[in-house]
Amino acid sequence: MDDAMKVLIAEEQLREGVRRIAQQIQQRYQGRPLTVVGVLTSSLVFLSDLIRQLDIPLRVELIPARAGARNGGRPGPLVINLDLLAPDVRDRDVLVVDDIFDTGHTVWELIPQLDELGPNSVRTAVLLRKQGRRAVPVEPDFVGFDIADVFVVGYGIDYADRYRNLPYVAVLEDAELGRGSKP
Ligand code: IMP
Ligand code: MG
Repeated sequence: MDDAMKVLIAEEQLREGVRRIAQQIQQRYQGRPLTVVGVLTSSLVFLSDLIRQLDIPLRVELIPARAGARNGGRPGPLVINLDLLAPDVRDRDVLVVDDIFDTGHTVWELIPQLDELGPNSVRTAVLLRKQGRRAVPVEPDFVGFDIADVFVVGYGIDYADRYRNLPYVAVLEDAELGRGSKP
């Protein structure tokens, strides 16, 4: 099955992209107290690679933001849980790390909720941004790769809980989207 998958971003390209985005982040936050907030679960691999490229003091927090229901592989309404977040983000810069900026609704809903906690700033870093999908008036601040509007998996990104452990980003073809729940 994995052999048949179409690689979109290979491991070495991912490494370079993560290094590039890490440099931009590092320049931006040099000397400022940074809290990195990973959006669970699909940002997990990107997050762990990214923080190891950041040579600045930082805190790492995780928040679950799950699709409430799925519709043809696309997430449904978002359920965000800030309970796990340490309340003390005052006087800190917050950087939300997510896997994909698709419609942008996740980021759009998260930013004001984090803003309410009174941080210095809230910015967003995403590994992938899908072209022509944005439905909200914000763009992510740091972007690893711009990609076409295809359904991707791997490098932490799943379809029906599968493919997260692929070390590269692959395109899931329409034929495979229909049978994602079968092992
Ligand atoms: P947005 O809120 O529409 O920007 O969607 C962002 C979230 O939808 C991502 O963090 C993913 O979890 C999920 N998503 C969007 N596109 C894909 C995809 O191609 N594969 C897997 N998950 C996706
Ligand atoms: Mg996600």
